Amino acid sequence: MPYNPRDKWFLKAKEENFAARSVYKLEDIDRRYKILKPGMKVLDLGAAPGSWSQYASRVLGEKGRIVGVDLKPVEVDLPNAVFLTADVRAVDMGALMLEAGISPPFDVVMSDMAPMTTGIRLQDQERSFELCMFALAAADRFLKSGGTFIAKLFNSQETDVFRAELRKRYKRVEMVKPPATRSDSRERFFVALGFTGGAKAPKVAKAPPAEPAAPAADAPPPA
Ligand SMILES: C[S@@+](CC[C@H](N)C(=O)[O-])C[C@H]1O[C@@H](n2cnc3c(N)ncnc32)[C@H](O)[C@@H]1O
Repeated sequence: MPYNPRDKWFLKAKEENFAARSVYKLEDIDRRYKILKPGMKVLDLGAAPGSWSQYASRVLGEKGRIVGVDLKPVEVDLPNAVFLTADVRAVDMGALMLEAGISPPFDVVMSDMAPMTTGIRLQDQERSFELCMFALAAADRFLKSGGTFIAKLFNSQETDVFRAELRKRYKRVEMVKPPATRSDSRERFFVALGFTGGAKAPKVAKAPPAEPAAPAADAPPPA
């Protein structure tokens, strides 16, 4: 967390012992949509340095579980969280979870992943979109039916594409810019509620109408 003595969110995070000011973005989203509840299971993608997991940990309580994944190690120590160091684009998260003894599904999949910014706007936007698509695939795979997906995206031409993908899978899709987001930032948060399984839902074939059973070869002829 870079030191900025004039940033009120930075100071607040420091005072409240959170690892990053980003925590107030999740807090705002959670206040608006009432997503996190005691005992839930949460997958936190792009978890480092750990403030979203810290916030979730407090709300979920001792019966809750958090699995955090990041390229960088997460240093915060939380009794109800396990952190895995991995690149979500390159790792089989299912296998990784199995190895760590964690069993999906999750009530919430949340992604605050952001690429290392280059300053080349188009490139940064494309990378952010790519990370969102990986997060979406993880949610397709690991989210409970009815669950919630949160994802940060750098606003771009791809925003509508991403929204359309979300609408195929969730009952309600909202886009928010929490107050803790810097005013000049292009980041937006999608909140997708009510996972329906969408594109990935297994199709249950309708049973064909029952055929009259063929008479057995040795059955007596009909009267
Ligand atoms: C804004 S920070 C997340 C802050 C975090 N939510 C918190 O509250 O402490 C974005 C994170 O995304 C991670 N990230 C970026 N690309 C990733 C990838 N391919 N796989 C896993 N994590 C990634 C970065 O390492 C970085 O820690």
